[in-house]
Amino acid sequence: MLTTEVVEILNKQTIVEADASHAYLALASWCEERNLPGIAEYFYAAAEDERVHFLELVKYINSHQAPAIIRSVSQPRSSFVSLLEVFLYVWDLEHNNTLNINNVSDVCLKNKDFATYKFMEPFVLEQQTSEKSVEDLIHMIKTLGHDDKSLYYINKNFKKLIDKAIQEPAA
Ligand SMILES: [Fe+2]
Repeated sequence: MLTTEVVEILNKQTIVEADASHAYLALASWCEERNLPGIAEYFYAAAEDERVHFLELVKYINSHQAPAIIRSVSQPRSSFVSLLEVFLYVWDLEHNNTLNINNVSDVCLKNKDFATYKFMEPFVLEQQTSEKSVEDLIHMIKTLGHDDKSLYYINKNFKKLIDKAIQEPAA
């Protein structure tokens, strides 16, 4: 059985994940509006990942007879001046999520809820990878620049560039 404090923090985390999913959808739209479908795909996939996290938490809470509370999501940000600004915002988004996930783990330990702490472990590790890959993308955008020609190149080769950034991370 989960303690009230653990249920509360898990329910709070469901909102963080749902908000992140919505924020990524807004970024996918921003890219599509600017004819950057290659980058939009990356954000659609990120929105889906966050929705999966949201559902995993909802199902975990419900499986312990502590009802998950489904709340409305926040209005996501949709105004940016450049792709670099978009990715700086993504870094803030992911970092904020890391702080929240770490806080959930912390509450689990304080409540001696080692099972939920273990359940949260993949979330903790995934955040570390997410922050690192966004840092690499920011480095890549800064290196390639963001004039029209660079944007065209980045969009067209986004998938390849991400895979390369993951294999050869920036120092
Ligand atoms: Fe997430």
